[in-house]
Amino acid sequence: MGLRIAIVGATGLVGEKILTVLDERDFPVDKIFLFATGMGKTEEYFKKEKIEVTPFEGTEFPETDVAFFSAGTDIPKKFAKDFVNKGAIVIDNSPAFREDETIPLIIPEINPEKIKETKGIVSNPNCSTIIMLLPIYPIYKRWGIKRIIVSTYQSVSGAGREALFDLDKKRNPPHYFPFAIEKNIIPHIGKPLESGFSSEERKMESESKKILSDKKIKISATCVRLPVRFGHSISVTMELKSEFTLQAIKKQLQLFPGVVIYDEPKNAKYPFPLLVEDKDEVFVGRIRVDPVFKNGLSMWIAGDNIRKGAATNAVQIAELLLRGEGV
Ligand SMILES: NC(=O)c1ccc[n+]([C@@H]2O[C@H](COP(=O)([O-])OP(=O)(O)OC[C@H]3O[C@@H](n4cnc5c(N)ncnc54)[C@H](OP(=O)(O)O)[C@@H]3O)[C@@H](O)[C@H]2O)c1
Repeated sequence: MGLRIAIVGATGLVGEKILTVLDERDFPVDKIFLFATGMGKTEEYFKKEKIEVTPFEGTEFPETDVAFFSAGTDIPKKFAKDFVNKGAIVIDNSPAFREDETIPLIIPEINPEKIKETKGIVSNPNCSTIIMLLPIYPIYKRWGIKRIIVSTYQSVSGAGREALFDLDKKRNPPHYFPFAIEKNIIPHIGKPLESGFSSEERKMESESKKILSDKKIKISATCVRLPVRFGHSISVTMELKSEFTLQAIKKQLQLFPGVVIYDEPKNAKYPFPLLVEDKDEVFVGRIRVDPVFKNGLSMWIAGDNIRKGAATNAVQIAELLLRGEGV
């Protein structure tokens, strides 16, 4: 028997991809209810069937088993509990609950056991956090990691559909960001904080600590937006706790689900946004010994922010619920 599914924010980049991924993975859906503002698209397709998109008022919605929220921060803060009270497990893509210690923040390949702690809401981590942690985790597990210095090269789609309209010159007023993104880079993502870091950089630090259940690991992030449509790229340098060989690192990465090594610089084989676009796997290349840290390791990571960075991870969380009979 299938489940009753709701998607709030079904017409957005992430919402639409959730529909695609549910279909691709043959998730058992009995009924699907789609919500958005009512000012944009009024219909979507699921398994080639046209589904009406209902304007979300927050007052009337059906009983569901799983509700994906993909509509910014305010909507889940106001209405996630109402869905839970009507029997749903809410999987929220926004930052609304990610730092709440009572709400699990899950990457299914890393901390699936946390699903058991949910009281009705599960948070999906930030896209850059997911893409960075997936290949770092098998290394962390075997060798331990003291600190990570990370710089991101994030695509415009990470900021939603309106931001893509800016890149495509289909927006009036033209700039979604503080200034032009085309032929440019913006070395700041999110809100500025007193510390000098941005909110996106802080998310990478605090979410990683929560997912790894490791308050001691040191993480310093610099998050940058580039005029790329899809796919976030990430440069990391890490200090491991013990000695390693590159051969052992590669073997460990090869064994980890969802990670692909793409690392033959002589043949120009290293991950890049167009390679990873619309793929669920996270790609790793430029794997090399870092000469600055003791037991230092550097690598380059790339993954699709809308897929594994959002929709695919969210659907995998729903699959955990299914397997754990949580719904
Ligand atoms: N883009 C990414 O790479 C990414 C990655 C991880 C997490 N996220 C998170 O996922 C969420 C969605 O991101 P996105 O990129 O899909 O954004 P988006 O393309 O801008 O889509 C936003 C969606 O939310 C709907 N929405 C906005 N306000 C609403 C309201 N008051 N009531 C009902 N629906 C409302 C929009 O409906 P209309 O179409 O009718 O306007 C649209 O369906 C955000 O919380 C974001 O932080 C995004």
